[in-house]
Amino acid sequence: TRTARINPSILNCDFMRIGEELDRIATADAVHVDVMDDHFVPNLTFGTDMVAQIVQRAGIPIDAHLMIADADRTAPAYAEAGAASVTFHAEAAAAPIRLARELRSKGAKAGIALRPATGVEPLLDVLGEFDMLLIMTVEPGFGGQSFLESMLPKIRRARAAVSAEDLSLSIQVDGGVSRETIERCAEAGADVFVAGSAIYKAPDAAAEIDALRTLAAA
Ligand code: DX5
Ligand code: ZN
Repeated sequence: TRTARINPSILNCDFMRIGEELDRIATADAVHVDVMDDHFVPNLTFGTDMVAQIVQRAGIPIDAHLMIADADRTAPAYAEAGAASVTFHAEAAAAPIRLARELRSKGAKAGIALRPATGVEPLLDVLGEFDMLLIMTVEPGFGGQSFLESMLPKIRRARAAVSAEDLSLSIQVDGGVSRETIERCAEAGADVFVAGSAIYKAPDAAAEIDALRTLAAA
């Protein structure tokens, strides 16, 4: 079995107490930070200064998920802000391979994300250019939405390509991931799991992280 990584999303945490909210997830593998520009998605969240402060405060790596337009121009600043991985959307990048190389040259891992209606097939020949593939399991923009079962075949196709070529690419799922859905994602081939509401709504976030990790590894 693959190692399961759990990256809590702080999108729906208490922004008035963000430092303490980071402490609650100290046992996670990374903090998933959803950057939204009210253009690529109809919501507005964090920018580079906030990401840089989260990098300083969190004791674990920052996994930046950029839901922002014109990624070719806007994404590199998040690598400069200190994010360990920077994931941009395929739909928002004109030259994803060039951008991934630029992110890697700035010391970040490079991820590429797909909205639910974007197919993985056009990427299958270039997966080696990326460290991570993010398969969205809700339409990006908001936390607390229900998991799209119809994304499971896409995860399977991606995992088959990664195995066939023996790549080290991680496959991340994001949206509606919970105790109810994580096993199906893992079985389909995902190995990095983003969960926002499932972890932040739990009374004990550390116990929830443990439970999700155990279910995903089973
Ligand atoms: C949605 C974000 C997700 C979101 C996940 O656009 O990319 O990271 O916060 O939240 P839940 O786990 O509640 O679906
Ligand atoms: Zn996200």
